[in-house]
Amino acid sequence: MPVKILFVGDIVGKPGRQALSRELHRLVDRHTIDIVIANGENSAGGFGLTVEVAKELFNQGVHLLTGGNHIWDKKEQVPLIFSDRRILRPANYPAGALGSGSTVLTTPGGVKVAVLNLEGRVFMKSLECPFLTADREIERLKQETPIIFVDFHAEATSEKSAL
Ligand SMILES: [Fe+2]
Repeated sequence: MPVKILFVGDIVGKPGRQALSRELHRLVDRHTIDIVIANGENSAGGFGLTVEVAKELFNQGVHLLTGGNHIWDKKEQVPLIFSDRRILRPANYPAGALGSGSTVLTTPGGVKVAVLNLEGRVFMKSLECPFLTADREIERLKQETPIIFVDFHAEATSEKSAL
């Protein structure tokens, strides 16, 4: 059974959320989308994410939010947002960092889809190696499902191509 995934890139602040609320239902209907994944790390005021904004995005029809370097920007909200398993941060943050870098979703038709979030290191912060993390995580996730969606949050095209 084919699975249709809609991925929405960086939703920035209120204008981004308004565009999503205007377009999402139409897109989901027209393309019979099963799963909506969105990058939400800048959806609250242009930097970071809050519980309230996450709730709004989930109510609009997003199933899972991915993060990146800005997911930590609203510091006081960080423990709260990561208590929701539908919000990911890149998997290659050091051991002990709050939150999770991957999860497995199930479509209404019962198909399992794994989602892995990673962050690049070129022109960005020094993190654990995204390549080694990807190998390790994909090895683990493919025990559950052959469908693995990766959001690689990075700057350099070369690093993205290499991954
Ligand atoms: Fe970012």
